[in-house]
Amino acid sequence: MAHNRRNFVKKLAVAGSTVSVNNLLEMTSVADLTAANRRVQHLSLREVAADEDYWRTIQQSYTASTSPIIILNNGGVSPSPLVVQQAVERYNQMINQGPSYYMWRLLDQGREPVREKLALLAGTLPDEIAINRNATEALNTVIYGLDLAKGDEIIGTLQDYPNVIQAWRQRAQREGIVYKQLSFKFPIENDEQIVREYEKAITPKTKLLHVTHVINWVGQIMPVQKICQMARKHGVEVLVDGAHSFGLLDFKIPELGCDYFGTSLHKFLSAPVGTGMLWIRKEKIATIWPLLCNSQPKSNDIRKFETLGTRSFAIEQGINEAINFHNAIGSKRKEERVRYLKNYWAEKALKLPGVRLSTSLKPQFSCGICGVSIEGMTPGEVEGKLMAKYKINTSPTVWENISCVRVTPHIYTTLADLDKLVNSLSEIIAEKKKA
Ligand SMILES: Cc1ncc(COP(=O)(O)O)c(C=O)c1O
Repeated sequence: MAHNRRNFVKKLAVAGSTVSVNNLLEMTSVADLTAANRRVQHLSLREVAADEDYWRTIQQSYTASTSPIIILNNGGVSPSPLVVQQAVERYNQMINQGPSYYMWRLLDQGREPVREKLALLAGTLPDEIAINRNATEALNTVIYGLDLAKGDEIIGTLQDYPNVIQAWRQRAQREGIVYKQLSFKFPIENDEQIVREYEKAITPKTKLLHVTHVINWVGQIMPVQKICQMARKHGVEVLVDGAHSFGLLDFKIPELGCDYFGTSLHKFLSAPVGTGMLWIRKEKIATIWPLLCNSQPKSNDIRKFETLGTRSFAIEQGINEAINFHNAIGSKRKEERVRYLKNYWAEKALKLPGVRLSTSLKPQFSCGICGVSIEGMTPGEVEGKLMAKYKINTSPTVWENISCVRVTPHIYTTLADLDKLVNSLSEIIAEKKKA
């Protein structure tokens, strides 16, 4: 694999004088993807997940695969494949012919097709999808848009994302709603235990459960469907934070049984940085107030949540190309590959002395994100060494009862990168022992 990457980079260097790097990369990805798909079509999901030739084509669609730094913090934010970058650049150039015409009049017409494409991917009606800038914006729209009275209760967890915890706390502080937070000790390999904890906390005053689909700190997949079934019995709504699930796990939003779903598109979907999506069940749209005001705040038109003012339509249009790219691979294959990559390194790391994982390796409980720690070292120390000496970018994670280094590969990650991670961890452990 290292050899292949070298060859690829060499090819780029040779081609540099006559062909732009972008063109060569584009040729590599577009020309090969159809052929690669045809070659693996008879294989099982598991076989495709381990087919390095297939994934090499995908890796070479990402300029990130040529980065001298090994990026293993794709849970934070992910790069786009070259076709997406090029689409954004193309639209940007078009906009700069004169944004008042090319952006507001022409490109603006591309929003409905993007909505339809997102809806197809999400398995929803287009009229239930609002396009926005990130998961924070999508989730805050619901958090601040719900009609709640003093004393109404919301149940979340200490392990939810800080931006949403802050939002709920601010509402509690300002309006006297009651924001209760459960605390889970991950990993948990028992869905019923999680559902029970939420159920125990429900009272007649509970209006909504806030559930993170994939816990960002350690990658635990929460049993959203089971939680929603339970909540429905109690007449309680569910808001799902799908920042790490959409574009990675193979599911359709209505299957979850939730009422609201907010996500980023710049994580596993690899859409341009600064893209997000909000889904609201059709009959609930009229009940949610927009975060940024609209002339018809109680309308049932989902577009009332898109009164964002002037923003980049080029970025928004780039979502199109990201979905095309995602669909060319397929959700099932993508989920299986990313889980394969996580298990590839994590199973090896677990054999090293003093290594502990904060994440279950069973498929139903995790996919791409995994937390790792080394006995006697802080996450900051491990992450610092990985970066300083080995040029591996990870995320030191210390939050509530969680302490680990978060590692998140993506579909462009190579096995060689993951071997380097494991070898680096091994060297760090050996060095610590000597000291
Ligand atoms: C679970 C979770 N929710 C929400 C967010 C916020 O995402 P964004 O940066 O797109 O607003 C993140 C970001 O990492 C996250 O991990």
